[in-house]
Amino acid sequence: MCSIIGYHGDRTAAPILIKCLKKMEYRGYDSVGISTQYRNTIITKKKIGTVSEVNKKMELDKLPGKIGIGHTRWATHGNVTDINAHPHTSNSGKISVVHNGIIENYIEIKNELMKMGYKFYSDTDSEVIANLLQYNFEKTTNVKLSIMNTVIKLRGQYAFITILDNKLLAVRYNSPLIIGLKDNERFIASDVFGVSAEVDNIIYLNDGSFSILNEKKIQCYGFDGHLIKYTLSNIESNILTVSKKHYQYFTLKEIFEQTESILQVDIKSINELAKIVSNIKRLYIIGSGTSYNAALIAKYLLSKFCDKIVEAIVAEEFEIFQNMNRNSALIAISQSGETADVINAVNMAVNANIHAYTILNIPTSVLAMKCNNIAKTNCGLEIGVAATKSFTSQIASIYILVGKMIHVKFIDLHYVSNLISTILKNELEIQNISKSLKNIINIYVLAKGIHYPIASECALKLKELSRIHAESMFGGELKHGAFTLIDNNTHVIVINPQDDTYDDMVISIHEIKSRGAKIIGVSNTYNKLYDYWIKIPNVRDKIIFPLVEIIPLQLLSYYLAIEKNLDPDHPKNLAKSVTVK
Ligand code: F6R
Repeated sequence: MCSIIGYHGDRTAAPILIKCLKKMEYRGYDSVGISTQYRNTIITKKKIGTVSEVNKKMELDKLPGKIGIGHTRWATHGNVTDINAHPHTSNSGKISVVHNGIIENYIEIKNELMKMGYKFYSDTDSEVIANLLQYNFEKTTNVKLSIMNTVIKLRGQYAFITILDNKLLAVRYNSPLIIGLKDNERFIASDVFGVSAEVDNIIYLNDGSFSILNEKKIQCYGFDGHLIKYTLSNIESNILTVSKKHYQYFTLKEIFEQTESILQVDIKSINELAKIVSNIKRLYIIGSGTSYNAALIAKYLLSKFCDKIVEAIVAEEFEIFQNMNRNSALIAISQSGETADVINAVNMAVNANIHAYTILNIPTSVLAMKCNNIAKTNCGLEIGVAATKSFTSQIASIYILVGKMIHVKFIDLHYVSNLISTILKNELEIQNISKSLKNIINIYVLAKGIHYPIASECALKLKELSRIHAESMFGGELKHGAFTLIDNNTHVIVINPQDDTYDDMVISIHEIKSRGAKIIGVSNTYNKLYDYWIKIPNVRDKIIFPLVEIIPLQLLSYYLAIEKNLDPDHPKNLAKSVTVK
């Protein structure tokens, strides 16, 4: 989603801002802009398009000045237009703002400011921040007070950077923002990856705080104005070395990396979480998108093997669970730790005095700061917008968690890593199947029991990567309605490993096949009912089939994207971190 960047140092800001924005392109965006401060004037250029396109047309990197801010926008309020692109400048032209998040009460603030004579040019919620800052700064002529008086008025969740009174400022509330340092240079960015090549150290800005930066010092304050001590952190080496290697796309690299990433899950922190939740009767497991599919696996395993009441809930829907029982806890599953719906759900639980725990990939994220305990999936930075390696690490962590709770070892990570590498060796076969399937528009993905979350994840990958309308369904459910759509043109993926779901799924296949549909069977054994067979290996313990069956389905979705000339790393309209509601 939107990325923001700020720079104050001894070099010209504009080319550095462009370079950093390019590194954060993976977060998703539709328009680009920068403002720089030069001899007491703020110059702004912005437009719809990619960073390279807009830079080529408008020569953003030629803007003068050693203080600057930049933005890539993913539209929420107001259409994708040049005017709605950031930065937004206050009416005086002396304050410029880039913003990530949503100001929920912006109409109220806008009306108040308009009554005082302020004019607005965009449809965004963000423009109110620039004018509210101007109002507060003109009243107090004090930078610190004007930030404090501004944030007190804002409702929602936000991170913004502003040039105000020739200074660079960063403000963070429930949205990601970090500060980077090297010698006399100061950076502010949405994520560490954006500035990792430029800085030596990072400050993870506290949530609900702001910072005033210049070459000499950095001062951080809480929203009530008290000074906050900060600590300098090093940049993790795995971020510094991120590259596509020999792969055409990050997505393919990340699919292949799963043989390694799965070995990195942090067993110690997962075991600690297992100890804590063992005594809790009711668990709410939440997540969005892929992480919700992982929550469904957790629900299945915890319900089957532990004496617990478990709800798996899409994070956005958590608000309906008003009467949370005392002996209950929430486990939030997230790759980024930035997803707004997940953070809102955790806030709700915490406000209801319910402990919140997380299974998380980025331990420096907002979510990490809000949860009582973190089980770390440690799969490294995931750049492809579609989650791949983060999903397998989440479900491996869940197997370990549940196994620890009932004193059973469900998985041996090295064994699973070998199984994944066996499947990846069949890349060519899957590529060939994708050539035959590239013209399909609709597809069903059927499964039963613990395989259903994989069907759901497969449907998500097909939609995101290959832009095929895909619907996951329990095997037997098809005949309760959707059967009416089955004919010679229908394709159905059936997740059908040899376990206790096999016989029922074969019955479903017969029923579908007799109506003319084509079957793509995902199984460890061949069945002549399959029009295409996606082979998965036999496993020692059948309960871990889901961990292996998702791999060929990720590959299939990837190669369908390639066959259709789509960019798998940047699916249309999607963003890596969904930092707004
Ligand atoms: C799907 C995908 C998204 C994310 C969702 C939650 O491939 O990437 O559906 O899974 O936005 O993100 P996290 O896990 O970062 O909370």
